[in-house]
Amino acid sequence: MKSPVMDLKVESMDIDYDHPPPLQVFAHTSTLHGISHIFSYEKITAKCCLWVVFFLSSLTFLVYVCIDRIQFYLEYPHVTKLDEISTPVMVFPAVTICNLNSIRFSKITRNDLYHTGELLALLNSRHEIRDAHLVEESVMEVLKMKADFRSFKPRHFNMWEFYNRTGHEMKEMLLSCQFRGSPCHPEDFSVVFTRYGKCYTFNSGEMGPPRISVKGGMGNGLEIMLDIQQDEYLPVWGETDESSFEAGIKVQIHRQDEPPFIDQLGFGVAPGFQTFVSCQEQRLLYLPAPWGSCKSTSPSSDFFKTYSISACRTDCETRYLVENCNCRMVHMPGDAPYCTPVLYKECAHPALDFLVETDNDYCLCETPCNITRFSKELSFVKIPSKASVKYLAKKFSKSEKYITENVLVLDVFFEALNYETIEQRKAYEIAGLLGDIGGQMGLFIGASILTILELFDYIYEVMKYRLCRCSNKKHQHNNNNNTDHGAVLSLDDVKCHVSKFH
Ligand SMILES: *[C@@H]1O[C@H](CO)[C@@H](O)[C@H](O)[C@H]1NC(C)=O
Ligand SMILES: *[C@@H]1O[C@H](CO)[C@@H](O)[C@H](O)[C@H]1NC(C)=O
Ligand SMILES: *[C@@H]1O[C@H](CO)[C@@H](O)[C@H](O)[C@H]1NC(C)=O
Repeated sequence: MKSPVMDLKVESMDIDYDHPPPLQVFAHTSTLHGISHIFSYEKITAKCCLWVVFFLSSLTFLVYVCIDRIQFYLEYPHVTKLDEISTPVMVFPAVTICNLNSIRFSKITRNDLYHTGELLALLNSRHEIRDAHLVEESVMEVLKMKADFRSFKPRHFNMWEFYNRTGHEMKEMLLSCQFRGSPCHPEDFSVVFTRYGKCYTFNSGEMGPPRISVKGGMGNGLEIMLDIQQDEYLPVWGETDESSFEAGIKVQIHRQDEPPFIDQLGFGVAPGFQTFVSCQEQRLLYLPAPWGSCKSTSPSSDFFKTYSISACRTDCETRYLVENCNCRMVHMPGDAPYCTPVLYKECAHPALDFLVETDNDYCLCETPCNITRFSKELSFVKIPSKASVKYLAKKFSKSEKYITENVLVLDVFFEALNYETIEQRKAYEIAGLLGDIGGQMGLFIGASILTILELFDYIYEVMKYRLCRCSNKKHQHNNNNNTDHGAVLSLDDVKCHVSKFH
């Protein structure tokens, strides 16, 4: 890097050590623009002072801009990118369906009534029928017969078995089912327990590979006609967690590897209507901290293979109940014993309601960085029409009134064979930061990384010279009668010369 000028100067000045070039020489050879005008060989002039002012203001501006860029970088900004990608086939989502009524009245046995009467608000704590005037005669007759506990010996009772036996059966509810134009059957629905009791999932992936859609639109999706069996609904005499004032079904559309969380995330479908659900798949990719807030290493779930927020919340609710009540509800995974009806009423329902509605700190489920969800558009038409009610009544051998009150049709299909990706991306990365700083450095002072190295190199030379000269003075004081420098090299000399090559 030494220029001929520099070498000349050096040779002419010192004999023993490489004297660093004076500042003027450095200034003229440096790639840093501007300073050559400042440290000129001539006398200090007004021009020179102006150059100092310009150089210093450029430098200040540069520092200001660099600090601003670094601050912006440290905010870790992100942008969200939205895209639509079409594919030839799409995996059809799992569709979970729950009847809002979880227990069929006609399936309740005397033993069931004895154990759960209070939980279902049918009996009081002395096993007597309460509020008898609120119910129709026919129901009352049946209830009176079942609630006759004279000479009755209570037998073993299990909550899971009770829900499994008394829940609505898909075989009875399903009036017709079609997927992509070919018929499907009650066996295509797998049983899953939720807070609504016994529910059914179509295309759960448990029975063979998940089904696919090869076209958008209604003809390529699922169409089911259901009878919600309102005659079987439990008479409601009080507000309990088991009773529902509503009639209809709850539906959740979710991925196969995600458990349903239908009481919180499902949407309702009413009898008397045909409901069209047009879905679009959305794949969301979030960024981990510090850019975003998702969890990059997928947190594990106690009971489910893949992590999802639903799985995490189910896990968490299960843990909470096992901790607080020493039992789990029917829909919860794990191996803790099922809660008894008494525990359901006294502990499980209140605890779970508290957890869902009030306690924000116990169930903190982190968002995974990779989520698939389905956006939905719902529309409705009336079914049956005046013109078709007679035909449907005859087809299913029910009364016209029954058809109007109980039948619903649900259509689930993809709007188009594409999915939407919503992706968070880093807006400003280290390369961008370096580029910006480099650009500003070039713009303001005409410098690059190598210029900075040059500066350091020069400072190093100067420092080294200073240090060596100091030690040399001492050295000379000690050996001031030694005339032959060349013959005896002191240790200090060696150091100075050696260090020059590093
Ligand atoms: C659950 O209910 C179904 C239908 O009522 C029945 O076939 C099945 O055996 C029951 N499962 C158990 C374990 O009791
Ligand atoms: C997101 O998850 C799905 C399935 O879990 C996987 O197939 C896909 O590759 C993941 N995408 C990214 C970008 O990690
Ligand atoms: C020079 O130094 C030597 C020893 O290094 C010593 O013997 C000699 O007397 C010294 N001469 C003078 C003039 O100081």
